[in-house]
Amino acid sequence: MAGTVSRTSNVGVATGGESSQRRTSRSGYIKAKFGFRNYWYPAIFSRELTDKPVGVRLLGENILIRRVGDRAMAVADQCLHRGVRFSRKPECYTADTITCWYHGFTYSFTDGKLVEILTEPGSSLIGKLALKTYPVSEAKGIVFVFVGDREPGDLAHDVAPNFLDPDLEIDGIRDEVASNWRLGAENGFDTTHIYIHRDSVLVPGNNLALPLGLVPGDLHGISVYGENEPKGVLDHTFENYQPVFEGKIDGQTVARSKGIGNQKIVAREVSIWMPGMLKVDPFPDPSLIQFEWYVPIDGERHMYWRVLGQRVSDTAEADAFHQEFHNRWKSLALHGFNDEDIRAREGMQEFYQHDKAWAQEHLFKPDRCIVEWRKLASRHNRGIQPPANG
Ligand code: FES
Ligand SMILES: [Fe+2]
Repeated sequence: MAGTVSRTSNVGVATGGESSQRRTSRSGYIKAKFGFRNYWYPAIFSRELTDKPVGVRLLGENILIRRVGDRAMAVADQCLHRGVRFSRKPECYTADTITCWYHGFTYSFTDGKLVEILTEPGSSLIGKLALKTYPVSEAKGIVFVFVGDREPGDLAHDVAPNFLDPDLEIDGIRDEVASNWRLGAENGFDTTHIYIHRDSVLVPGNNLALPLGLVPGDLHGISVYGENEPKGVLDHTFENYQPVFEGKIDGQTVARSKGIGNQKIVAREVSIWMPGMLKVDPFPDPSLIQFEWYVPIDGERHMYWRVLGQRVSDTAEADAFHQEFHNRWKSLALHGFNDEDIRAREGMQEFYQHDKAWAQEHLFKPDRCIVEWRKLASRHNRGIQPPANG
C-alpha cells in the first residue's frame, strides 16, 4: 500500500465536553456538510447510463450525464436562460446535444456551448453562453464525475487501494439515505457499531464469527496515510481489538453474539479513504472485499454505494461472481446486514443536523478510529464544498 504510515498511539479521545485543540483539529471536517471539493465521485453505474440523459445531484450540484458515442459526458443540469433543470423532461434531438424543454435553448454536451435556440433561430446569444462541463471517467462499471475547479487528477488517487486492480471484479447497488454523508462514513468506519448487526441474517447465514463489539487493546492499531495518494486511515481491527461476545447489566447476560462458535473471520482490516470511501477486507466472506461510498447529495442526504469485489482469473469466474452476487450476497449481506446501517444513520441525523451536535457528542475509547478520520479529512482535503444556495 502506498503512503506514509504513522502508527497512532494516542488520539486524545475526549470523554466529555471538548477541548479547543480537538475542535481545531477537525474544523475542516465539520464545515464539510456538503463534502469535499476537487475529487472524483461515483455518480451512476455504467449499466444505468444510455444515450438518454440522467440527472444526478452530487455535493449539492445538479449534473446531467449522457452517453455521447461511447463516452459518458456531463454538463450542469440547469438551463442558462431561466434556470430550469433539463432532467425534468430531457429532449435530445441529436447525439451530442441537450435541448431545454422550456424555450428550446440547445447546448452541446461536448463543450457545454449554446449551439441553437429552437424558438429564435440565429439568436445573438448562440456561441456566447456555455454550461459548466464536468470531467467524467468510467472504471469498474461505475461512472465517476470530478466535482471541483482544479484539473482532475488520477482516479486511483481518489479510491481505496486495490479497488482498480485489474483482477478485481466488481458488482453493487446504490440507495439514497436520509442522513448527512459524514454519518454514513462514520457508521461504516465505527468498529463498535457491529452491535447493531447482532441479529443479522448474515451471521448464521454465512457462519460469521461476529462479536457484539470490539475493545481496543493498548497497542492502538491505527495507521494514518497522510502523505501520498490516496489518503486514508486504516484500522487493523483483527490484530488490535478484544472481541466482546456477551453484553451484561449487573452481571447478568442480556445480549449474546449469535456468532459464537462460528468459523469465518471477516473484517480483519477496515479503512477509509478521501473523499469518503470505505474498504472492509475481507467482507462479507473471506473471499470478498466490501467497498462503500457515502456521496453527499446535499446537506441532509447521501447516496450509499455498496460494492463487493472478488478476485477472478477469467470470464467464467467473473460470471460466477456476478451470479452469486445477485443470487446470494445482495440479499444476504448488502440488504440483510447493511440495511441496519441505513437505519442507524437516519437515526443519527436528527441530532447531527444541527452543527452544535459535533460539540455535544460524548465519544468513547473505541471511537478513536472516527477521530483519526476526522483529523485526516480536516488536514488533507482539497477543498470544502460550499453549501448549495449558500
Ligand atoms: S429556461 Fe431553458 S430555454 Fe428557457
Ligand atoms: Fe455496519
